[in-house]
Amino acid sequence: MNALPTLGAVAGLGGFVTVVGAVTYYFTPKFWEVGYMPEQPSTGFNHRIHAGTLGIDCRYCHSNVEDSKISNVPTVSVCYGCHQENHVSSEYVSDDKVAFIREAYETNSSIEWVNVHVLPDYVQFPHHVHVNAGVSCYSCHGQIMGMPVVYQAEPLSMKWCLDCHRNAEENLVPPDKVTDLAWVQQDWFDKNPSDRNHEGLTPEQLVQSLHRDPPEHCAACHY
Ligand code: HEC
Ligand code: HEC
Ligand code: HEC
Ligand code: HEC
Ligand code: HEC
Repeated sequence: MNALPTLGAVAGLGGFVTVVGAVTYYFTPKFWEVGYMPEQPSTGFNHRIHAGTLGIDCRYCHSNVEDSKISNVPTVSVCYGCHQENHVSSEYVSDDKVAFIREAYETNSSIEWVNVHVLPDYVQFPHHVHVNAGVSCYSCHGQIMGMPVVYQAEPLSMKWCLDCHRNAEENLVPPDKVTDLAWVQQDWFDKNPSDRNHEGLTPEQLVQSLHRDPPEHCAACHY
């Protein structure tokens, strides 16, 4: 009888290790790595052209980023808005390159984009809270404006989340610069890595714009 608590503790520990082991094994798929770049449908769609050269704001296509826990990729009608006949001159893009958009729109079908960034189901990640707090897309997705095909630029691991939560002030930009990835990269990180005083906003003022301190307790991110 006296051995029971010890046995129980050992069994409990064993159980915990098994659960953590199983979770680590099953919920950390191979693609959970920096550089993960799944093959997309062969449409020729390109962020470097749309977000880079043309400078279309991220929110024109990713219209949920400020309002929803989950971000979104655009529907066909967003593409069609520009790529319907006689809108963008065929001098810039030939009709055959965007025929798939008109066909999808007319047949009411969607384009099956493959998801690049995926968190395990047991993690809760409110996307909009971050965007509204002044964390740039760049901090979590890398230099999308230069990517012909999107890949995962950051590990998205628990350590990665917490590293930022503990040093949030270093990762905040003025709210109107959140989607301006050229500004963020050139002026904020490259040219002035130690200069945190942009547009008259000090780090302290940026931190004050936070709705609350980034959480570190388990239940904040795990249901
Ligand atoms: C705001 C207008 C606009 C929207 C919205 C838009 N495009 Fe474009 N797209 C353009 C313009 C302009 C070009 C030509 C750019 C150039 O090559 O100078 C282009 C070029 C392209 C090309 C040809 C690329 C190449 O290699 O030449 C494809 C394919 C394309 N778009 C697909 C899409 C898809 C898919 C969507 C929706 C997710 C989309 N576009 C949304 C304006 C738009
Ligand atoms: C013209 C529309 C358009 C614009 C502008 C645009 N995107 Fe996208 N984005 C898409 C489409 C379509 C996809 C899905 C296909 C793909 O992954 O390339 C996508 C995918 C993504 C993904 C990967 C999502 C996943 O599956 O995990 C990220 C991250 C992203 N975009 C960020 C950005 C950022 C940041 C900007 C602004 C600098 C931006 N996008 C501008 C249309 C757009
Ligand atoms: C604090 C980090 C962070 C910031 C800032 C951030 N994202 Fe994300 N984003 C993520 C993570 C993590 C995911 C995967 C979420 C999931 O699986 O639940 C994601 C998913 C996405 C997706 C995929 C949506 C889908 O349908 O699967 C798009 C598109 C996207 N982000 C665009 C953006 C844009 C545009 C910005 C800037 C306005 C931005 N993100 C800012 C971390 C971030
Ligand atoms: C680059 C910085 C950064 C990264 C990376 C980041 N966060 Fe955050 N997170 C923040 C900031 C800043 C806040 C505070 C936002 C506020 O409340 O104003 C926050 C707040 C939160 C909140 C609280 C939301 C609320 O309603 O108060 C949760 C939950 C959260 N983050 C989850 C995550 C998870 C999960 C990851 C990793 C997948 C992650 N974060 C990665 C900066 C980051
Ligand atoms: C800021 C958000 C955040 C907080 C706070 C957080 N986690 Fe996590 N946790 C994550 C993310 C994201 C993953 C998924 C990482 C991956 O798949 O690589 C994760 C994964 C895990 C896993 C699975 C094993 C692994 O490492 O892949 C366990 C167990 C875990 N967390 C326990 C905890 C405990 C216990 C706490 C409190 C001490 C905690 N977490 C606090 C975001 C968080």
